[in-house]
Amino acid sequence: MKIGFLQMRSKFGEIKLNVKKALGLLERVNDAVIVLPELFNTGYIFRNKEELISLSEKVPGGYTTKQMKKIAKKNNLHLVFGLAQKVSEKVYNSAVYVSPGGKVDSYRKVHLYDREKLLFDHGRAFKTKSIKGAKLGFMICFDWMFPEAARSLALKGAQILCHPSNLVLPWGQDAMKLRCLENRVFGITANRIGVERRGTVRLEFTGNSQVVGPDGEVLISVGDRSESLKVVDVDISEADDKDINANNNVMEDRFPSYYSMLTRK
Ligand code: ACM
Repeated sequence: MKIGFLQMRSKFGEIKLNVKKALGLLERVNDAVIVLPELFNTGYIFRNKEELISLSEKVPGGYTTKQMKKIAKKNNLHLVFGLAQKVSEKVYNSAVYVSPGGKVDSYRKVHLYDREKLLFDHGRAFKTKSIKGAKLGFMICFDWMFPEAARSLALKGAQILCHPSNLVLPWGQDAMKLRCLENRVFGITANRIGVERRGTVRLEFTGNSQVVGPDGEVLISVGDRSESLKVVDVDISEADDKDINANNNVMEDRFPSYYSMLTRK
């Protein structure tokens, strides 16, 4: 199975321009699972809730999801991309999944980062999606900081962690190598590049998008400069082998009854 990422720069508020750029890159690939960055269509630094609402979209009815459905069908792609999802009065920082056959689902980011907490509502569940030949699990950017997110997805049977990102801290990519290793799954981190400045807020996105394998090894990556789409052919069944040696298995060796404090606040 071919899996990969699309790394790009986004221009704040220019949904049509950002979507057009992504579609141009996606034109070059067929028959693959591709992850795009978090909030790739809008940019990241919303000045206030009104601005966020004005740039949010319904799923599946909104502009961005409709465009992505078209390319998914044409090029036989499973796509995972970030947008601000409007659900009645609430707005979620979501990862939307679209299938080649037009199925749509979404995951709402649970662990909101910094000013996101002032703007978005947070999600309340981790989600997986079975597609032909693999089970996807969704997490978004700062979810990397909470190992419970990736673990929950792996326990639900996810074989590939799909991780749309706007990483700004220097540890996200390395942490994802550990998230993959400790769960023995694949991980696709699709990050943004470039600098965004709005008012007094300035953020630099760290690029270095990557696909990681179940041994924690980076299978493909790209630097922090180029807008690019990269794919790698992987054997998804490697994510079903949870052995780390003849005597250890990362799932069977757990002692959940000792971890009960994890489910208390
Ligand atoms: C982040 O979660 N966008 C840093």
